[in-house]
Amino acid sequence: MLAAFADTSMIHAHSSPNIALIKYWGNRNNEWRLPAADSVSMVLDFPTVRVAIELAEKISVQSYDHDGVEKPQSDASIARLEKHYALSKEFLRTIGRDEELPENVSIVIHSGVPPAIGIASSAAVFSCLAEAYGALVKGDALSRKEISILGRLGAGSGARNSFGGYVALENHGEGIGSAYGRQIASEQDWMLHDIILVPDQKEKKVGSTEGHAKAATSPLFAKRLNEIPRRMQECISALETKDFEKLRKVSEEDALEMHRVMQTQTPSLQYLSNATHRIIRDIERLRKSDKLNVLYTMDAGPTVHLICTGDSLAAVVAFAEAQKDCIIFKAKTGGASHLS
Ligand code: PMV
Repeated sequence: MLAAFADTSMIHAHSSPNIALIKYWGNRNNEWRLPAADSVSMVLDFPTVRVAIELAEKISVQSYDHDGVEKPQSDASIARLEKHYALSKEFLRTIGRDEELPENVSIVIHSGVPPAIGIASSAAVFSCLAEAYGALVKGDALSRKEISILGRLGAGSGARNSFGGYVALENHGEGIGSAYGRQIASEQDWMLHDIILVPDQKEKKVGSTEGHAKAATSPLFAKRLNEIPRRMQECISALETKDFEKLRKVSEEDALEMHRVMQTQTPSLQYLSNATHRIIRDIERLRKSDKLNVLYTMDAGPTVHLICTGDSLAAVVAFAEAQKDCIIFKAKTGGASHLS
């Protein structure tokens, strides 16, 4: 097997997190990470993840943090990477191309994204791997849609990094390939900023993979699914027309509701902390008094994303820098995952 792929040299890819504006929470198929509803997000330009892969006798994984320090890999995270590779093959089989992907690869990950605090580190890692696996496939290049599917098989939200700017993850029928990304607007169409406030760097105990699987135990889940089509429409229209106020209303409504679903599922997931609530309260006050274009949103962690327009950036950064005990990342709308 190895000989057939012997000319494959090292492949490098690059990606970053994305921040959801209409959140993905809950699957219609957990094994294939097929979302129960559509979602939409903004791709960020920072922090970044790089991967290098090459052909190997057996799957191996090395991972380094932003200081270049090697992080020991848990059995669970190695199993997740192995599973992603197997699912990638399973999807490629449906388009008659699984034999073009080698049996095993060695994976080296350099991640500048702190894991498990609500900055979509797994979306960044798996979209990056999707890019690299796409390049490993012999023959014609995979389409962006197919790369998006490969990303989704590792982390549902990873499907939204295969295009730049603002990207919807949409459902289309049945089967392993039946949900993938579509670009709504590019980063050139509308540049927004995301000032990320991290009040707590402790990794969460329950990750989103486990959380998605229990979403339907919340009594609020069915209602949420009914609301999503309207919110998707409003969010997409706000992005297309650059209507910040419309974007703010619908994305805050959706973020707070997703957290109510998380809190009322069994077992209950409480990702937001006192610091999260304080930051929300203070930014609501500031944006009213200073007429700022800023919205808040939180993924699966206490981290608050303050998304704002260029004319409100200086005031939002000053607000962020005045917060005690928070780590700050300054990002803006970014481009798609790509080979490097
Ligand atoms: O892609 P996952 O399995 O890491 O789930 C992402 C879940 C949220 O970040 C909470 C929402 C989203 O749409 O990104």
